[in-house]
Amino acid sequence: MQIDEIRKRFLDFFEKRGHAVIPSAPLVPINDPSVLFNTAGMQPLVPFLLGEPHPLGKRLASSQKCVRTGDIEEVGNNKNLTFFEMLGNWSLGDYFKEEAIMWSYEFLTSKEEGLGLDPSRLYITVFEGDEDAPRDMEAVEIWKKYISEDRIYFLPKKNNWWSPGDNGPCGPDTEMFYDVTEEGLGDMTHDEYVKADDEGKVVEIWNDVFMEYEKKDGKVIGKLKAKNVDTGSGLERVAMLMQGKNNVYETDAFSGIISKINELKSKSDKKAERIVADHIRTSVFLLGDGVLPSNTERGYILRRLLRRAVRFADNLGIPSSSLYILAKEVQTKYQNAYKEVQNENILEEIKKEEAKFRETLEKGMKEFEKGTDAFTLFTTYGFPIELTQEMAKEKGVDIDMKDFESKLKEHQDLSRSASAGMFKGGLANHNEKTIRLHTAHHLLLAALQQVLGSEVKQKGSNITEERLRMDFSFDRKLTDEEKQQVEDIVNEAIEKDYSVVRREMPKEEAEKIGAEMEFGAKYPDTVSVYFIEDKDGNVVSKEFCGGPHVTHTGEIGKFKIKKEEASSSGVRRIKAVID
Ligand code: ALA
Repeated sequence: MQIDEIRKRFLDFFEKRGHAVIPSAPLVPINDPSVLFNTAGMQPLVPFLLGEPHPLGKRLASSQKCVRTGDIEEVGNNKNLTFFEMLGNWSLGDYFKEEAIMWSYEFLTSKEEGLGLDPSRLYITVFEGDEDAPRDMEAVEIWKKYISEDRIYFLPKKNNWWSPGDNGPCGPDTEMFYDVTEEGLGDMTHDEYVKADDEGKVVEIWNDVFMEYEKKDGKVIGKLKAKNVDTGSGLERVAMLMQGKNNVYETDAFSGIISKINELKSKSDKKAERIVADHIRTSVFLLGDGVLPSNTERGYILRRLLRRAVRFADNLGIPSSSLYILAKEVQTKYQNAYKEVQNENILEEIKKEEAKFRETLEKGMKEFEKGTDAFTLFTTYGFPIELTQEMAKEKGVDIDMKDFESKLKEHQDLSRSASAGMFKGGLANHNEKTIRLHTAHHLLLAALQQVLGSEVKQKGSNITEERLRMDFSFDRKLTDEEKQQVEDIVNEAIEKDYSVVRREMPKEEAEKIGAEMEFGAKYPDTVSVYFIEDKDGNVVSKEFCGGPHVTHTGEIGKFKIKKEEASSSGVRRIKAVID
C-alpha cells in the first residue's frame, strides 16, 4: 500500500466516524513565534485543545506536514527523517479513551477499511503513573478487549507522556508498536520488550495522547477545561511496515528521488544517499511554504539542510548543480497531495543556494591554503568546520578544536550580548564597540599611509569604548584637507564592506609580505595577521595582530577624526570615534 492510499484510508476512516478532515497547516506556524516549525499534528490545534471552539466541530482529522531537525545527525539511519507527515485524529472535549483506543486498533487491523496489520505483532505501552497523573489503568482495561494483557507494558513519563514543550496542553499516552522481525517476537517480559525496542525490533506506529492537563514553565499546573484526545502516526513509518521494508528510505515516499540519486552517483554510500534524499525532500517542503535560505532561524535550518545535501552529494560523486534535478522528483511525488511543492521558485532557489555554497567552498579552500585559521574560515566564509578538519588531516596538520570551540563560544556570547545591547565587565576590552574601533584603527593606519606616504609607522595605540587613539611617525601638523581625505578613505572602506580575515603564518613570511607590526612588540614564530581585502583578494591593510576584529568592515559604522595633535618630537596623535 502506497503513502497516498494510506493517507486516504486514514482520513476516510475518521471522516466516516464523524471527523472533519482539515488540510495540513503550513510548516511555519501561523500564530506561534515560539516554535520554528510544526513538529506534530496537534501544534496548529493548540488554541482549540486549550478550549477555544473549532469552527469545524469537536472531531478532527488531518495529515500534517512536520519538520523535526533536533537529531539531524541521526538522519540516514532507518527511521529518522527531518520531514514527515503525521496522521492524526482529535477529540476536542468529545470522545475520550474508549473510542480513541477502539478506533486505533480497528484502523491498524481492519483489512477492509484500515491497514490490515497482524494483531499478533502488536505491543502496547501505557503510562505507569507519577505525581502528575495516576497509572493509566483505564487505558489498560480498554486495551484488554483487543489484546492480551501480557502485551501491555507500563513505562514512565519519559516514554508515555506527551507535551509540545514547557507550556501548553499535555497528558499521558498509550503507544502502539509493531514487531518488524522476520521470525516474530511472540510474548515478552517487560525487560525483553524494552530490549527489543532498544534494538529496533519493534517500531512505534501510533501514539494516543489523553490530553487533559496543562503545563506552565515546565510544570503541570492543573487540568484542562475539557478532556481531549490527540493522536499521531508517522505516515512514512506506516508505509515501511505496509511495504515490508525495514527502513523508511525504501518506501515509495523516497523511491523516485533515491533512484535518481542512483542514476547520478558514481560512488556508493547508503547513508549519504539517504541524507541527500531526506534533506532535499525537506528543503522542497520548506521552500514550498515560503522559507528562504538565510543565516537566521528558519532560513538557517534550510540553508544547513541544503549545504549538507551538497556535501553528501559530493561524497557520492553526483555532478555539481544536480540538486534541483533531485528536487524535481520530490515535486512529482507530492504534487497531488501538496500543491505548494509545485512552485517553480523552489528549483531556482535550490540552484542558487548550491551555486552560492560552491563559491563559499572554493573561496574557503583557497583561504585554507593561505593559512587562514579554522575559526575565521567558519565565521567569515561560512566554511564548515568538518571540511577544515578533513583538509587539515590530508595535510597532516592538527586543528586545535578546543581553541576553535572556545573562540566560537566567545564569538557567540559576544554577538548575543551585542544584539541584546548589554556589555558587562568580563569581556572588558572585547566588547562590540572596541572590536569595531580596533578594525577602524587598522583602516586608519592604511589611510594615513596612503595620504601621507608609506613611511608613516604606528608608534603606539590605545582603544577605549569611546574612541581610538593612534600615535604615528610624521613631523608636521596635518592640513584640514589631509584629515578629510584620511577620513573619507576609511569611510569608503567601511562602505565597501571589505572582509576582515585572520591568517596564521610564520613570522618571516609576515615580515616579507610587509605586514604592519606594532611598535616595540615581540612576536612568536607563528603569527596571526589580519588582512582587510575586497572580494577579489586585493589587500587594503595587513597587520600583525591578535584581534579580535569584526568580520566585515561594514559593521564598523561611521568614522570621524576628532583631534590631530603633536605627541612628541616627530610623532603625531589622532583621536577618532565611530558611531
Ligand atoms: N502529539 C503526539 C505525538 O506527536 C500525538 O506523538
